[in-house]
Amino acid sequence: MAYETLSVGTEGGVALVTICRPDRLNAINDATLVELTAAFRALRDDGAVRCVILTGGPAKRPAFVAGADIGEMAGQTAAEGRARSLLGQALCDLIENLGKPVIAAVNGVALGGGLELALACHFRLASSDARLGLPEVTLGIIPGFGGTQRLPRAIGLGPALELLTSGRHADAAEAHRLGLVNQVYPPDQLLPEARKLAAKIAGNGPVAVRLALEAALAGRSQPLAEGLRLEATLFGLISATHDTQEGLKAFLEKRPPQYRGS
Ligand code: COA
Repeated sequence: MAYETLSVGTEGGVALVTICRPDRLNAINDATLVELTAAFRALRDDGAVRCVILTGGPAKRPAFVAGADIGEMAGQTAAEGRARSLLGQALCDLIENLGKPVIAAVNGVALGGGLELALACHFRLASSDARLGLPEVTLGIIPGFGGTQRLPRAIGLGPALELLTSGRHADAAEAHRLGLVNQVYPPDQLLPEARKLAAKIAGNGPVAVRLALEAALAGRSQPLAEGLRLEATLFGLISATHDTQEGLKAFLEKRPPQYRGS
């Protein structure tokens, strides 16, 4: 499918989604939200795709996504603001519940909606020139794509409230210290490293990867005992799959496993 504000390519089970609005530092407007939603639905339903990388295309300065499009938000009514927020939240929920890992390769500014999109991804890698923040309050608005909820869960309440209320940007080193990004790489190494990690993930049993994601994500909103019960149920269920038997047998036979996703 052809998109106006995105490019999507797949190679060896790894899909690369690149947001391309170079003259707006990849800021996401409503059209981008709609296209990202269509693209992620297609990737969710494509059994050959086992891992996704989300990044920003080349722009005037290194940019993952410089936020929601401020031009579009100016003058929005209360109803339009709510609808825009729900559209962005639905996209972030889709990404978080994709059933396969989504890696944010944060290759520059990830501000406002950009950081919120990155927070919906399962984890984040960054280039050393990345800057991350939720500057909405400096514009007199608040985050609307899940930032008030996912940032505190990602880095804890105190550090999140500092970023949320000051609107200041954290550089890559601080983001790493905060646990907001897992690794920091020189700019030219970010995508190759993200691809390496994605290829490793894509080589694992897809059902196992999906259930591990499901258990960990469900556990955020459950008491420990319920999370453990879910884990045991999924651990039992997965034993009935071809891939579990194949993975265990391949280890004992000292050969690489041939997973088929069932
Ligand atoms: N929405 C719409 N346009 C945006 C944008 C956004 N979120 N972020 C950047 N742009 C546009 C700028 O208006 C500018 O357009 P122009 O060339 O027509 O003037 C272009 O992208 C380049 O940005 P510019 O501000 O000139 O680059 P810079 O290097 O001086 O500053 C930033 C970079 C990221 C610090 C600055 O663009 C910025 O603060 N952007 C807004 C970030 C933000 O608040 N995001 C949250 C929105 S809710």
